Amino acid sequence: MDIDTYLLRFKGCYFERSVVDIDLLENLDDFEIRDDDVFIITYPKSGTIWTQHILSLIYYEGHRNRTENVDTLDRAPFLEYNSRKVDFSKRPSPRIFSSHIPYYLAPRGLKNRKAKIVYTYRNPKDILISYYYFSNVVAALQAPQNLEQFMKRFLDGKVLGNLWFDHIRGWYEHKHDFNILFMKYEDMKKDLRSSVLKLCTFLEKELSEEDLDTVVRQATFQNMKINPLANYNAILKDEIGTRNDGQFLRKGTIGDWKHHLTVEQNERFDRIFQRNMKDFPLKFTWDLKEEENWNDSPKET
Ligand code: A3P
Repeated sequence: MDIDTYLLRFKGCYFERSVVDIDLLENLDDFEIRDDDVFIITYPKSGTIWTQHILSLIYYEGHRNRTENVDTLDRAPFLEYNSRKVDFSKRPSPRIFSSHIPYYLAPRGLKNRKAKIVYTYRNPKDILISYYYFSNVVAALQAPQNLEQFMKRFLDGKVLGNLWFDHIRGWYEHKHDFNILFMKYEDMKKDLRSSVLKLCTFLEKELSEEDLDTVVRQATFQNMKINPLANYNAILKDEIGTRNDGQFLRKGTIGDWKHHLTVEQNERFDRIFQRNMKDFPLKFTWDLKEEENWNDSPKET
C-alpha cells in the first residue's frame, strides 16, 4: 500500500487520513481563536503528550490532585484530529489545543499575538527513532519495513507532519507573527523544574511551591508512564488502534539514536541536516554528555 492509503495531502501537508477532520482543515483559516487560547504545536514525536500533560497540570487543580478523571487528550485535544468530536466552541476558556500543523496553516486569529503557542522541539535523530517505533505501533500509519526505509521516508517528508526541517524552520522564522514560546525537549529532560517555571511565566500562571513540586513530580517519565490520565495507553489501544503493544512513553531519553543509526546513516543524516539547518539559530542537543552542539557539527562523543 502506498502513502496515500494512510496519509491525506492537504495544501502541501500530510495528515493522518483516517482521523483528520477535513471540514476543519478547509475552514482552518477562519477557526475562531480566543485571546486566552493556548496551542501546543509540535512536530510528531517531539514531546507532545508531555507538554499536554504539563499544561494540564499547570491549568487544572483537578489534574494535579487527580480528583478529576479527565485524560490529557480531553484537556488538550488535537485541533485537526478531533477524534472525540468535541465542540470546540462550547469549551470553557482557557482552551488548550494540540496540533502538528505547519505555520502556514495556522488560523488567522493566532496572528493577533494574543493567544499563546508553546512549540516543543527535539533533536531530529531522536525524533526519527521515536517515529520509527511509533509507525510500527499505530495501525493507521504505514508500517516501515526497516529503519533505513523509514529514514528515507522521514528525510523526504513523506510522513504525517511532513519534513521536520520545514516544520521547525517555518514556525521559527515566522515567530514574530505569533505569541510563541519555544521549549526544548532536552532542556525539559535535564531540568524539568526550570522548564515548568518557564512555561508558567509565559502562560502567566503563578503556582505555589507545593503545586510546582506536584507538577514536576507528575510530569516525570516514570510517573506519566503509570498515570492512565497521561500515558495514552487506553487511547492508543481503544481509540487510535495498534499493531503491537508499543506505547507513547517508550524510552523518553536523549541520544537513543546512537543505539540505532549506523555510522553511514548517521553521516548521511548529518549531511542533510547541515544542508537544511546550517544557518538556523536554535541549537539542538544530540546527546546528554556533549551538551549544546553547533548546528554545523552534530558530532558523536
Ligand atoms: P521516545 O519514543 O523516544 O521514548 P509525542 O508525544 O510528540 O508523540 O512524543 C513522544 C515521545 O516523547 C516519546 O519518545 C516519549 O517517550 C517522549 N516523552 C513523553 N513524555 C515524556 C516525559 N515525561 N519525559 C521524557 N520523554 C517523554
